[in-house]
Amino acid sequence: MTDWAVSSINSCYFKLVQYYCAVSNISTNLMDSPVNLLYLPQCQSTNDEMAQLLLIRQDVPEGFAVLTDFQTNGRGQGNNTWQSAKGQNLMFSLLLFPRYLEARHGFWLSAAIALGVAEALEDYLPGTKVKWPNDIFFGNRKLGGILIENQVSGSRFERSIVGIGININQLDLLPSATSLALERGREFDRKLIFEAIRNQVFWNLQRLQTEGWEKVKQLYYRKLFKMGTPHDYFLPDGQTFRAVLKGISESGELILISALGERRFQFKEVSFFP
Ligand code: BTN
Repeated sequence: MTDWAVSSINSCYFKLVQYYCAVSNISTNLMDSPVNLLYLPQCQSTNDEMAQLLLIRQDVPEGFAVLTDFQTNGRGQGNNTWQSAKGQNLMFSLLLFPRYLEARHGFWLSAAIALGVAEALEDYLPGTKVKWPNDIFFGNRKLGGILIENQVSGSRFERSIVGIGININQLDLLPSATSLALERGREFDRKLIFEAIRNQVFWNLQRLQTEGWEKVKQLYYRKLFKMGTPHDYFLPDGQTFRAVLKGISESGELILISALGERRFQFKEVSFFP
């Protein structure tokens, strides 16, 4: 077994065992619990599977993951789809209960997660970056993406389903995308990378709680694509301009300095020129 998936019989058994372990031996400490995951050989979308699971079970622990080898309706941010070749990449969703965070601080959550993913990948592909707000980039190409779906209760987060897709061993990709295998010229063990990402995401959420947003922001800035360097940007009306990325505002806006001075943009109000 080179990965978590082998044959459908084995994977079905594996799924049952893993699921049973996860729900009967509830441990909220992820680092001690390598088994709390549900593997599905194929599904619509791991985010949707996690949401379905939460409808029928109240005891799914924080850190529980749903992984798959193939999605029939993989979703990206906005109305985008997420396409990924069967059995070659990482596609999973993690369950979080970030009740310690006010809903107005959604960007803190998104940044801590993206930082965790980029830090975990650094060991496999040094120089991995986060492209605001939470795309994973290497060079000028997309290596992965994150889709966070939150449920809010009052002014706080209740739960988050964090969908993560990373291109690992796929070689035939669009020119705008890349994978670890394309960059390094060898295959990678997806299971190891999954565990590294899960641990590092939790490490950064812990960091957010103990050391605060300023610390996470400082580390996020170090990983931020085009931080402090001149780059071309474009607006939805097609206008392009050159600017230097200065940082991110408290509410997650991109702060750019151009010849016209400082301007702040929400997600989708500005794009990086490829
Ligand atoms: C993006 O870059 O637009 C976000 C892509 C997120 C893809 C992952 S794959 C696992 C999870 N399930 C989904 O349907 N989407 C996320």
